[in-house]
Amino acid sequence: MGESSKKLEGKVAIITGGASGIGEATARHFINHAARAVIIADVQDEKGQELAESIGLDQCVYMHCDVSNEDHIKTLIETTVKTYGQLDVMFCNAGILNRSQQTILDFDLSQYEKLFSVNVCGTAASVKHAARAMVEGKVKGSIICMASVAASMGYPQYTDYTMSKHAVLGLMRSASKQLGGYGIRVNSVSPGLVATPLACRMAGMEVEELERTIQSSYYLNGVLKVKHVADAVVFLASDESDFITGHDLVVDGGYKVINSSS
Ligand SMILES: NC(=O)c1ccc[n+]([C@@H]2O[C@H](COP(=O)([O-])OP(=O)(O)OC[C@H]3O[C@@H](n4cnc5c(N)ncnc54)[C@H](O)[C@@H]3O)[C@@H](O)[C@H]2O)c1
Repeated sequence: MGESSKKLEGKVAIITGGASGIGEATARHFINHAARAVIIADVQDEKGQELAESIGLDQCVYMHCDVSNEDHIKTLIETTVKTYGQLDVMFCNAGILNRSQQTILDFDLSQYEKLFSVNVCGTAASVKHAARAMVEGKVKGSIICMASVAASMGYPQYTDYTMSKHAVLGLMRSASKQLGGYGIRVNSVSPGLVATPLACRMAGMEVEELERTIQSSYYLNGVLKVKHVADAVVFLASDESDFITGHDLVVDGGYKVINSSS
């Protein structure tokens, strides 16, 4: 890999929800871009540990962290700073989708609360403690929140999920205003549908079937892959985006951008 590909050289990064799907691809991509250390934080202990081992325990470690528990996040970040000296990149990626449709006429408030505790409170607590560590360590870090095309559109179902991703944009925009003075950047990525375990469970399809089904929704040939999202996250994590903050980077082959501007 050439020098120009080492976009994250020396950086210490945490990825919540890093054991699977987009988080897993991003963990591998961060290491490919010469990150010094990647900490995978997740609730799937076996999967996370196996991933860390397959990447190499000298560069990647797994830590159990349920983002809906603020103490877990505090410990995750304190341990990272104690072990590696600082935190440069926080990718707040952990998210869930309820199995039920959650249309407004059948809206289940207890399921909504559970989803919000992960997608919204978990992301806010992750941004909070990452930002505190960066301010304290005088690190001009990069925080990236996982939003979605569902952050700016309405859907026929999954009302709670759609609400949660709208909230993530509000969090990202507010935090970017408040942290800019410290040199800390806060942005988000908004992927379209990617055939990860989460999306396959939602659609009740295997990867190939789901990819065939969604192919026609992009304005580019091919299909949206986790690598496309990981590339966008690497850009926002790297110094190549060092004057970009408060931005939601949509990665969806034109699906949302083209439809909403026509
Ligand atoms: N796949 C898509 O089409 C798509 C599109 C837009 C946005 N997203 C978002 O991308 C993110 C990653 O999703 P994915 O598609 O890779 O799904 P995924 O299910 O493969 O990965 C999500 C990971 O988050 C972890 N997680 C769940 N609850 C957690 C908690 N309380 N604490 C810590 N980790 C937890 C899971 O164990 C899993 O490893 C989510 O925020 C999702 O909303 C996905």
